[in-house]
Amino acid sequence: MAKENNNMETIIRTKQENEGKNKINKVVLQTDKLTKKFGGLIAVNNFDLKVSQGEISSLIGPNGAGKTTVFNVVTGIYKADGGKVLFKGEDLAGKKPHQIIKKGIARTFQNIRLFSNMTCLENVMAGQHCRSKEGTWSSVLQTPGQKKEELEIKKNAENRLKQVGLWKWRDELAKNIAYGNQRMLEIGRALATNPDLLVLDEPSSGLNDKESEDLMDFLKEIIKDNLTILLIEHDMNVVMGISHWVTVMDEGKKIAEGLPEEVYSNPQVIEAYLGKDEEEEE
Ligand SMILES: Nc1ncnc2c1ncn2[C@@H]1O[C@H](COP(=O)(O)OP(=O)(O)O)[C@@H](O)[C@H]1O
Ligand SMILES: [Mg+2]
Repeated sequence: MAKENNNMETIIRTKQENEGKNKINKVVLQTDKLTKKFGGLIAVNNFDLKVSQGEISSLIGPNGAGKTTVFNVVTGIYKADGGKVLFKGEDLAGKKPHQIIKKGIARTFQNIRLFSNMTCLENVMAGQHCRSKEGTWSSVLQTPGQKKEELEIKKNAENRLKQVGLWKWRDELAKNIAYGNQRMLEIGRALATNPDLLVLDEPSSGLNDKESEDLMDFLKEIIKDNLTILLIEHDMNVVMGISHWVTVMDEGKKIAEGLPEEVYSNPQVIEAYLGKDEEEEE
């Protein structure tokens, strides 16, 4: 795990890094008038999103705003009813989830999805299926090519487990490790596909303050490695602490975007997002 960091210092540094940056940076992911309907419900409505390379972008908004649906369309789980998803300029229309992973987008889920009866190491290895040229890692090892690839997959998985701080749990079943560690394991599995874009759906959900801070430090650390991050996040401390850019969604539509501090003080955002949240918590 990343080391302890001074939070205030980090926020100031992020602000300085932000100045003038969003105009220069290349857009790696873009949705253009994206629309997704469920029967009569328009969950995502003409939604435009831009994610700049090398940055941490956050997508926020009240429950039911359509955030997870955007992720599900971007990652090929749902087909769009209108509009486009462009990744590095390429239209992802019609691509299946495993093809999208191969293009370089990896994700985690709002509700953790691990293979609970597999070990931590096996979980991370399973994440690399899609990149495998020789077939699945569990296939009978026959050819030298398969053997070599199996070793590479294992080595990469081991490195990723170390990176997310779970090396000592490598042989433990995923269901037996602490909840916060399960969240990190899912991130490790996503990273094992060597993505260009990591898409995280509420990664801090269920984490305590210390675990959230460690997660923020970790995410800030890994973008230095030529990675771009898009996250859905509920915890405003996390959003303010690590985002270079924030997009706000409500009822399927974009209602604001900007630097974290701009969005945070936007009255429309406060009304739509914070207002509804308070009601829900009652
Ligand atoms: N598979 C689905 N079938 C029907 N309705 C769905 C489905 N997935 C999401 N929805 C609806 O779409 C809206 C947006 O949901 P979601 O994208 O999960 O919101 P968020 O992640 O912002 O909380 C909600 O009204 C939700 O009930
Ligand atoms: Mg959601």
